[in-house]
Amino acid sequence: MKKVNIAVVGLNFGANFAHCYRFHPNVGELTICDLNHDLVNQIGDRLGIRKRYFDLADVLNDPTIDAVHLLTNIPDHDKQSIAVLEADKHCACAVPMSINKDGIYNVINAQKKSGKKYMLMETIHFTRNYLYAQKMIDTGEIGHIQYIKGVHCQDMEGWPSYWKGLPPVFYASHAVAPAFVALKCDAKRVICFGTGKMREEMHKQYGNPYPVQMALYEMEDGTLAEVTRTLFYSARGFAEGFSICGDLAAFETGQINDDLPVVFKYRDNGIFDPDHIPGIGREILEQRISPPDRLDLLPMELYCFTNPHVRAGITDPSDTYLFQPGPSGGYHPHVVNAFIRYLTEEIEPFFNISNAARLTAACICAHESSMAGGKEIIIPKF
Ligand SMILES: NC(=O)c1ccc[n+]([C@@H]2O[C@H](COP(=O)([O-])OP(=O)(O)OC[C@H]3O[C@@H](n4cnc5c(N)ncnc54)[C@H](O)[C@@H]3O)[C@@H](O)[C@H]2O)c1
Repeated sequence: MKKVNIAVVGLNFGANFAHCYRFHPNVGELTICDLNHDLVNQIGDRLGIRKRYFDLADVLNDPTIDAVHLLTNIPDHDKQSIAVLEADKHCACAVPMSINKDGIYNVINAQKKSGKKYMLMETIHFTRNYLYAQKMIDTGEIGHIQYIKGVHCQDMEGWPSYWKGLPPVFYASHAVAPAFVALKCDAKRVICFGTGKMREEMHKQYGNPYPVQMALYEMEDGTLAEVTRTLFYSARGFAEGFSICGDLAAFETGQINDDLPVVFKYRDNGIFDPDHIPGIGREILEQRISPPDRLDLLPMELYCFTNPHVRAGITDPSDTYLFQPGPSGGYHPHVVNAFIRYLTEEIEPFFNISNAARLTAACICAHESSMAGGKEIIIPKF
């Protein structure tokens, strides 16, 4: 069995991923790394991981490491990804790939030069919710997709300083990605507006005045995707949600993050004669469903990681991110497995370098549009 040696760099959100790599059957040696020594030792002791570094530079200098998963500060993602690729290692990176177009081009060039693999670790399409919706698309249950909506609401007050004043759409990939994955095509153009007010000092870091941005994308196949992203001063609870509406059925995530999603379906199952309309409106059935864990997509060793659990000495997971229960969670082992399968079986993930670049550009162009008062921006091809 082919094995790869992995380093996980950044151990806040990253700790749960380290846990999954630790038990993946195709992972040889696992290294953990963070600038915060206490965090490295705490996670290392709890997960039983012996190999520990305290700076990405040490990971890059270690020839035994094949691939690096970066879960570090957003503004450093592009430069650190380039450093990983230039060190002749495969690179997985948490979203966003970059927060400017030059950063995207530079990562692409580094990937081409190195010949190493790059994967953007977008998570939304590995949630229980999305995996269920994808099955409805694949089986034809949804029919022709008429429109898609994505929403990501999260208050980032008090989070690490790089979040302060970040243009919301710079981190809109969880809301934009459902359109890319469901339609299997890119975004062609975008118009976006900013709305709301936030305190003046928050405008400084990124020159962005908006706590909220709303974008409308035209996808390459002509379908529209609408995206709402809130980061500050918006009294709306956490949501990473989406809605995919077809001409036969629709899938919509719950109003509150852990609400069960709803499937809507024409009672006539699409067998409909427009010359004989039966009354006022075609009847639509509504059903809350409980999307299952897709264990069939995982190696057995990772089954337990779709839910909060106790394993390898972890008795109190409350001091780190929890594996998210509920319909919007369950993605951690799928994301890890997709990267490992890319490395060991050449199975290309959806967000390989080119789709990662297009998704990221779609987010950056939305900000450009909102700063120009909603001007149409054509999204570059890569
Ligand atoms: N669903 C998702 O996809 C999702 C969810 C949460 C966070 N994220 C992304 O994951 C990343 C991490 O999120 P977080 O909330 O843990 O961020 P964080 O800022 O709390 O943690 C980043 C960690 O990276 C470490 N780090 C930075 N530079 C380093 C270096 N050179 N060497 C070693 N360690 C270094 C820092 O010390 C810090 O502990 C962010 O980019 C965020 O955008 C994605």
